[in-house]
Amino acid sequence: MNFEFSEEQIMIRQAAKDFAERELLPGVIERDEKATFPTEQIKMLAELGFLGMMTDPKYDGGGMDTISYVLAMEEISKIEPSVAVVMSVCNSLVNWGIETYGNEEQKEKYLKPLARGEKIGAFLLSEPEAGSDATSQRTTAEDKGDHYLLNGTKNWITNADSASTYLVIAQTNPELKHKGINVFIVEKDWKGITLGPHENKMGMRSSDTHSVMFADVKVPKENRIGDDGFGFAFAMKTLDGGRIGIASQALGIASGALELAVKYSTERKAFGTEICNHQAIAFKLADMAVKIENARNLCLKAAWEKDTNKPYAITSAMAKQYCADIAMEVTTEAVQIHGGYGYVREYHVERLMRDAKLTQIYEGTSEIQKIVISRALLK
Ligand code: CAA
Repeated sequence: MNFEFSEEQIMIRQAAKDFAERELLPGVIERDEKATFPTEQIKMLAELGFLGMMTDPKYDGGGMDTISYVLAMEEISKIEPSVAVVMSVCNSLVNWGIETYGNEEQKEKYLKPLARGEKIGAFLLSEPEAGSDATSQRTTAEDKGDHYLLNGTKNWITNADSASTYLVIAQTNPELKHKGINVFIVEKDWKGITLGPHENKMGMRSSDTHSVMFADVKVPKENRIGDDGFGFAFAMKTLDGGRIGIASQALGIASGALELAVKYSTERKAFGTEICNHQAIAFKLADMAVKIENARNLCLKAAWEKDTNKPYAITSAMAKQYCADIAMEVTTEAVQIHGGYGYVREYHVERLMRDAKLTQIYEGTSEIQKIVISRALLK
């Protein structure tokens, strides 16, 4: 077993770290407060190649492996998880979905501009009544011969406004239940698409989240991905990889919070010494570090399985659940170590704690991951 990173992987991690510290840190508190989408920062991230980093160079991507992606996601998430989620949805859900299951025309037309970072993608699965219960899709795609007619509402869509390429999951044949579901590439500016207001979220505030409404939207037949009825399997397979992205985002939130807590505890004095010299604080730091190390190893294992073409659905669910849960625990402890300072904006840890909460909810709640893991154990 080799725990060493390649030189290229180390370079990518360093590039992501430099970018995050130089370009994200200065404005992150203000963007969170005003819930401003990081347009300029995403442009720079795209220019650095991070939005299409795992896509095959044949389709204008960076051709990097999933391990490099985990390393980059961790570094960016330490500073601004709202930027990392854009990167995650683009790389693991939209680009990967089109690259793996789309045809050559779809890749030429839609994947290439996404991989170059000229366009942003969004993944439209969740609905008002189908969040965790993803088979209960109410959005319909009626087969009209040469096109489909899309009607319905999607909820909690990350990148809804900033994206121009949507992957929309919809029900074509309700009698077939999940086997009647399809997935379509839809352009956001097509007639009949409207967005709800920006969701005023607790955390991850500068990522743009909206509901999206479809009213008689005409989708050309050639925009369906895969065979008729492939949509649900597509969503599940794509989410397997998406969960590695969110796991590494949660990992970054936790390790960012630990770095801040270590720094603060070596500067702040109480009872005549730096607070890190009190076991009450030192033991907290040790517990946080152990959890983070475990989380990182799980993320990297899932990434390695994906890169070496092994089954990775279970490890990615484990990584997503564990990283999200420990991100919540570690950020809560980081706030505690900071005391009153942890509760105000300037020290960053309260924001990381708010951001951590969402990692337990989106791309499948922690409970959904436990369903996936326990079913695999019990089958
Ligand atoms: N790969 C391939 N196929 C899979 C699969 C996988 N990982 N998981 C399930 N399937 C298949 C099953 O084999 C089954 O197929 P057959 O009927 O042919 O045997 C079919 O899908 C249905 O599976 P289940 O019976 O297991 O379905 P279920 O209703 O019990 O639900 C679930 C399974 C795991 C709970 C699933 O509904 C799920 O993952 N829900 C959570 C959805 C989710 O993550 N939503 C997040 C939205 S995206 C997002 O948040 C992005 C963003 O913006 C950040």
